[in-house]
Amino acid sequence: MNILVTGGAGYIGSHVVKQLLEDTDYSVTIVDNLSTGSRKTLDTLRAIRDFKFVELDLKEFDKILPILEENSIDTIIHFAASIVVPESVENPLDYYMNNTVNTTNLIDKAVKVGVERFIFSSTAAVYGEPSSTPISGLDENFPTAPINPYGMSKLMSENVLKDASFAYPKFKHVAFRYFNVAGADVYYNSDNKLEPRIGQSFPNATHLIKIASECALGKREKMAIFGDDFATEDGTGVRDYIHIDDLASAHIQAIEYLKVNDSDTFNVGYGKGYSVKEVVEEVKRVTNRDFQVDNAPRRAGDPALLISNNSKIKQKMNWTPKYNNLGLICQSAYEWEKIV
Ligand code: UD1
Repeated sequence: MNILVTGGAGYIGSHVVKQLLEDTDYSVTIVDNLSTGSRKTLDTLRAIRDFKFVELDLKEFDKILPILEENSIDTIIHFAASIVVPESVENPLDYYMNNTVNTTNLIDKAVKVGVERFIFSSTAAVYGEPSSTPISGLDENFPTAPINPYGMSKLMSENVLKDASFAYPKFKHVAFRYFNVAGADVYYNSDNKLEPRIGQSFPNATHLIKIASECALGKREKMAIFGDDFATEDGTGVRDYIHIDDLASAHIQAIEYLKVNDSDTFNVGYGKGYSVKEVVEEVKRVTNRDFQVDNAPRRAGDPALLISNNSKIKQKMNWTPKYNNLGLICQSAYEWEKIV
């Protein structure tokens, strides 16, 4: 099998590439514009097994088709996208162009050359601001109603995929709605010490656990909690944090899944929520470091609570998470932060 991974030098893409190189014999081609992805990550991955790398922005429409043809691509795993919620509120058109328009073009070219499988990174942001969350979490049938352009840009792409798979039955897809992805490569060195080889490398990343890890290391003097007046138990935002390696393994399983099953949409999360305050306390606990945490106003486009119902992926894909442990998520993020 010949897999194209867009955004393979980025945070999530690189963890999927790692598993493709380690656990399969598929040939891998990465397309990445290196805007948030890193060359160093590509070098680290190449030490596992070789792959092809094309530095390209997906907005260069005319260059996609030859890449698919020359590499006989049968499966695309598409990560390349913009992902920062507040930024999407400020620059909505950038998000619709980079996320929806470029994805639509990629799908168009994929259908033209007969790509059979397309695995898409969507987001829990498609659910918007649920007025109430069922005890069992949000399932895939929960109404979608994004409250920011980022979530909408991804939902629109999901719809393009659905229509394409309906019209062209040979073209099948899985859309994964990620909850809050965090942590880094669970790799133990020869001293049996956790020492991630890859992780979140982008210096201006906005993720909560990365920011708290930077504070624990003294790279950042302090951090802020964005809003303590949400309708949650302690007033701070609640999210379902999932370890990056568990998220990555779902993508590897999706390739096999689509060989025998129809297109579908799956949540990927652990089905358990933690508040911002709880996460910050956990980072302090596992790192044994204290740091200053201020209160700040809510961030634009932030919903109060997002927790997945993950029954569908567990049942239909037999997905079995290995790292459902907030301590390990925070510890791996912190250990990576020491290295990067
Ligand atoms: C993240 C993803 C988004 C995905 C969503 C799904 C990123 C950049 N965003 O968004 O793509 O759709 O999960 O649930 O990966 N917070 C603070 N202080 C900080 C940073 C964050 O209080 O310094 C709070 C936020 O207000 C929020 C929570 O921590 O309540 C998580 O924030 P963040 O890690 O940025 O992720 P999301 O915005 O939830």
